[in-house]
Amino acid sequence: MKYYIIFGPPGAGKGTHSELLVKKFSFLHISTGDLLRREIAKESEIGKKVKSLIDNGELADDETVLRLIENVIICPALECRGFILDGYPRNLKQALELDKLLAKRGSRINGVISLIVDEDTIVGRIRRRALIENRKDDLETETILHRIKTYHTCTEPLIDYYKSKGCYYSVDGSTTIEEGFESICRIIERLNSEQQ
Ligand code: AP5
Ligand code: MG
Repeated sequence: MKYYIIFGPPGAGKGTHSELLVKKFSFLHISTGDLLRREIAKESEIGKKVKSLIDNGELADDETVLRLIENVIICPALECRGFILDGYPRNLKQALELDKLLAKRGSRINGVISLIVDEDTIVGRIRRRALIENRKDDLETETILHRIKTYHTCTEPLIDYYKSKGCYYSVDGSTTIEEGFESICRIIERLNSEQQ
């Protein structure tokens, strides 16, 4: 089983590329943002607890997100060859928990693919998405900027963590989706063949 993280700020294209990777490599896409939004839509206990945090661009608590991740990683479908983790981990504590969870299964992160995109581009993408999708955290510029700030403060330090583990790869995320996807596939194909 392969475990890849697709990494980057809000609006970088994590979800877009994850969906394409699912089709190409028979991976399962786990987006913690999608899992949390599903809980909110169901009005579950978890959903009620995290709703205002997510709507305001704050991170949900580590314990809740870890429980959601564990549930999906533990029972993959038979045809699943691996996982694309999108939006997890988002801070060092989550990264350490993930390492522990995978170590228990005799696995590790095979690669972290980081989408590099400048702030004006991601704000523009999120604003356009707000016209199509109905995400509360996309509606106000202040919330979008707060999510970007949270990324810089809590999530970006993980770049050094994964660099030190030798599994960090960056990709230009400001190109067309097709060009970006080609670069990501080249990295995954190389890692898959080196790490058979
Ligand atoms: P999450 O859902 O993960 O949101 P995010 O990180 O802010 O990222 P987005 O989903 O906005 O962007 P994306 O990178 O997926 O880009 P996309 O492909 O959609 O998290 C939401 C919230 O949940 C968090 O703020 C937090 O509250 C909570 N949460 C989630 N995980 C958590 C965790 N681990 N711990 C605690 N809390 C957590 O692309 C964006 C748009 O651009 C799309 O319209 C797309 O079509 C377009 N686009 C993409 N690529 C290109 C391109 N190359 N060219 C042109 N357009 C493009
Ligand atoms: Mg997303």
